[in-house]
Amino acid sequence: MLILGHKNFEVHRKWAYFVLAATILFSLWFIAGWIQTGRWPSGGSLEGLTAGVGAGLIMFFEMFLWPRKTIFRAWRIGRTKYWLKAHIWLGLLCLPLGLLHGGFHFSMANSPLAGMLSWLTLIVVISGATGLYIQNIIPRIMLETLPGETIVNQIPEVLESYRNEVNQMIRETCGLADANTDPTLSGEMSIVSSVKTSGSISGRTMQTHTTYPFIQGCEPLLTFWETYGEPFLKPGKMQSSGLADKKSSEALFQSLSEKIPVEAQNMIDRMKAICDQRRQFDRQLSLHFWLHSWLVGHVAISVALMVVLILHMTLALQYP
Ligand code: HEM
Repeated sequence: MLILGHKNFEVHRKWAYFVLAATILFSLWFIAGWIQTGRWPSGGSLEGLTAGVGAGLIMFFEMFLWPRKTIFRAWRIGRTKYWLKAHIWLGLLCLPLGLLHGGFHFSMANSPLAGMLSWLTLIVVISGATGLYIQNIIPRIMLETLPGETIVNQIPEVLESYRNEVNQMIRETCGLADANTDPTLSGEMSIVSSVKTSGSISGRTMQTHTTYPFIQGCEPLLTFWETYGEPFLKPGKMQSSGLADKKSSEALFQSLSEKIPVEAQNMIDRMKAICDQRRQFDRQLSLHFWLHSWLVGHVAISVALMVVLILHMTLALQYP
């Protein structure tokens, strides 16, 4: 879908044909050698060496993406999109080349180093393809399913402000905080001043504050808040309470709605919206985690691959 979609394929067409052609040509060359000699060309044969050196050079080139993005970043060597395209397609090509060179040797029994090299190459290519998929699909999922997405670092702060808002709303409604005594003023705004500190800077800020009238018979609201709502909105890992799941959350709110007066029903709507937001934040955090952590795995396996490759090359040159 990412590459094979009509529009995307145009951008990748030349690379795709090149990789396909190289794979077919190398395969035919190996098959011809096999037919001629009656056995699969070894890694040291002309075909084997050509494919092996090709795969090895590609692997070094693939690794170069890392210093290019870090040490040589300021040098601006070529445009990022061309590097990434070359990285993807040459990375894919090194798999058939490596496997032809090693005679599809995956067994660790005969030659552990060669077996390890084949496995690592396969895993690096699969992790790269998976990462490419993740990089393309996750931002789309976020855009389509998380309308309440916010800056990840600010999630704890936003949650804390929601928690304070609902806490204040419920305590005022239940008569536990300085509440508005006129029921017609429900939802009225007042201005409050407070001192806020951010790092070393501290100052007085003015904030709008919605006031809520005391409503009799709202005790179930307070119990619900203290049992489910408050712990659920705590920043940090989401509690696995009944509110974590949309369906059971609906059921809990429905049963609460039957226990409290009609005038307090709008509290439920606000709490529901905030709990929904909390679930979205949690989903955003887990998608964000996968979006960024796959690369750590890809790079770690790539480094292991390079270590084994260098060992393999050293031994092959020492004991040809
Ligand atoms: C032997 C094969 C490969 C090696 C050694 C390798 C190595 C690397 C390394 C070291 C990076 C880190 C660059 C950075 O710091 O951002 C990287 C990134 C990446 N690789 Fe690979 N890779 C290989 C194959 C592949 C393949 C086959 C694909 C896809 C089909 C792929 C997809 C990616 C993607 C999408 C990135 C992230 C690039 C970015 O976001 O800028 N890789 N690879």
